[in-house]
Amino acid sequence: MEPLSRRAALTLSGVGAAFVVAGSAGLLWQRPPNSGPLAPTPAGGGLASTTGTDLIQPTVIRSANGVLDVTLSAARSPVTIGGTTVNALTYNGSLPGPTLVVQPGDTVVLTLENHLGDPTNLHTHGLLVSPDGNSDNVFRRIDAGTTADYFYKIPASHPPGAFWYHPHHHGMAADQVFGGLYGAIIVEDRTPIPATTERILIVSDITVDSSGGIEVATPMDRMSGREGATLLLNGQVNATMSAQPGDRERWRIINACTSRYLDLRLNGQLMQLLGNDSGRFRSPRDVDSLSLMPGNRADVLVTMVAGSSELIAQPVDRGTPGGMFGGTASRGGAVILTTLTVAGTDSAPPPSAPHSEPRDLRDQPLNGTRTLTLAMGGAGMSGANGDGSHRGGSVMTFTIDGREFDAARVDQFVAAGSIEEWTIVNTSPMDHPFHLHVWPMQVIEIGSRALETPTWQDVVNVPAGSQTRVRIAFENITGITVYHCHILDHEDNGMMGVIAVS
Ligand code: CU
Ligand code: CU
Ligand code: CU
Repeated sequence: MEPLSRRAALTLSGVGAAFVVAGSAGLLWQRPPNSGPLAPTPAGGGLASTTGTDLIQPTVIRSANGVLDVTLSAARSPVTIGGTTVNALTYNGSLPGPTLVVQPGDTVVLTLENHLGDPTNLHTHGLLVSPDGNSDNVFRRIDAGTTADYFYKIPASHPPGAFWYHPHHHGMAADQVFGGLYGAIIVEDRTPIPATTERILIVSDITVDSSGGIEVATPMDRMSGREGATLLLNGQVNATMSAQPGDRERWRIINACTSRYLDLRLNGQLMQLLGNDSGRFRSPRDVDSLSLMPGNRADVLVTMVAGSSELIAQPVDRGTPGGMFGGTASRGGAVILTTLTVAGTDSAPPPSAPHSEPRDLRDQPLNGTRTLTLAMGGAGMSGANGDGSHRGGSVMTFTIDGREFDAARVDQFVAAGSIEEWTIVNTSPMDHPFHLHVWPMQVIEIGSRALETPTWQDVVNVPAGSQTRVRIAFENITGITVYHCHILDHEDNGMMGVIAVS
């Protein structure tokens, strides 16, 4: 039983779902399931009207003399997506917001103007900065119509990498990110990695309703974690990229989707993974696919080979809420995010990326171990609101160690400077991407698979009915912050805890 708004939303979804993988037959054009005022106008051979548009890069705002001074204005404003005007949520009128580029040791002075009509705040996902005061403090509430100052001191020892910013006001994070509020943060390398071109690739998803607004999530969406009908790359639908043979491009890919897991393929090209999140491998690793949970980033080198390629997002099965709720969490088939044409004169590729020496906490003594249990349960007819409904309209509870999020309660007290091993257990029939703020996690084991190479992430998957082990060094920064499921609907529904490091 689909609400009418869902059916109407499918008119634009035709843009995102336009290219589907049909078994071994390859990619085929699929017509929108119905047509309405927002239906894309197929051009020429039946391709979506935006095909042929060059992939744009978000505006870059760079630090100068050690300081990045920026104002982000969050507001509802019109943007063009797949040839359709959409009333999205934007920072500074664009989707994605501007890319902030800093060096280790810089200071960021940021003014957040809230014109959204709802409370919001700002999280600098993955940055190793203080979570207190007016730094990366997600307990702050910036009310509608007000302006807030943020101040971030980026340590001189900060690892380089791709990070991102997004709202984190509990209960509204999913709606606000889904509406379009996200942007990249780049901490530059001390020694630049040789590349012909650098690109930021922000993957997100969105569902537009029949009046050009953002579709309101259903209770089912909030349980399974909403997946947008249209997949975007830098806010565009299947835009094009061009390069010359021998070019080596550096792509920083960010999964800014509210809930969707990404399995990315780039047929016909050689991809080398430098690292994930803030972590680097010893040497670049040849990969055929990139697996990105919501919140994850990949730092990739692509050495261009002549021909035409597509960057494709394959569907990922991350389970279902199960039981009486049934349903399916993942939508649709494979989607082309961008089409790459490599042609022209061969050029000699730039020199190889330097090796790095990642830290390995398996060599160091542990100060403690903890087990955290992620669970989903039926709230029953006596659910939290007494009528079977629950926060966010869900009839299911989302807990860590049996408790829903409470900003006034500290769930984990950790001694500053300690190294701990955490086992994150998932008793539910869905995968959950576990995110810890401020202190990166070295992934030891996912499910029953042990990782040989030191791998550092700030979001790590915990497969359904399984567990993940990580080690964390609670060094350099103290304060109170959170850990949670980065399926933002689950976070808003309570799958979040508070950690105090002192
Ligand atoms: Cu995040
Ligand atoms: Cu979850
Ligand atoms: Cu968070």
